[in-house]
Parts: sequence; structure tokens; C-alpha cells
Amino acid sequence: MPFTRLASIHECPPGSAGEFVVGEQIVALFNVAGQLYALDGICPHQGGPLGKGRLSGCIVTCPWHGFQFDVTTGQHLTSKSLVHPRFAVKVEGDDILIEIK
Ligand code: FES
Repeated sequence: MPFTRLASIHECPPGSAGEFVVGEQIVALFNVAGQLYALDGICPHQGGPLGKGRLSGCIVTCPWHGFQFDVTTGQHLTSKSLVHPRFAVKVEGDDILIEIK
């Protein structure tokens, strides 16, 4: 599948999270010590904005009710059966690209 531009690398510095939109897809983007990760931006609990959550290390906390996910894997911290969808990410120049399937 082709990669699509999501954001500039300057929009998501190390230690930050952000919410971006590609087409109809809301994407939560995270920068963990310079490594970028992208998850579906809609929390599976009740639709909260994961990209607006608090990032601590590689763990994001949903701002609505506190669901926590490892952004490197999509794994919910306490419910092992819950793995949130991820997107492949790459950087070309100053652009962050993700693979939308
Ligand atoms: S909507 Fe994310 S924890 Fe409830």
C-alpha cells in the first residue's frame, strides 16, 4: 500500500503526541525519543482522542477516561485481548508518512 503524508517532523517533537487526519482517518501520532509511532486516533472505549492524550515514555493515556496503551505495539496495558490498530510510519525529508490500508 502507498504511504501518505501525515505531518511535518516539526509537528511532533520527541516526547509529544498529536492528532492528525488523512482523508477520513484520524491518526494519533507519537514521538518516543525520536522514534515515531501511529495508532488509530479513536479510542476503542468511547471514541476519545488518543492523539490528545498524555504520553509518558511509550504509554499514552486517553484524555477521556484513562485507557492506557503502549504506542509501540497498540497493546492495552491491562486488557491483553485489546490491541489497538497501528499504522506503519516512515520519514522522508521533513515529512512523516503513514501507510493507510
Ligand atoms: S474514550 Fe478513551 S478511555 Fe474512554
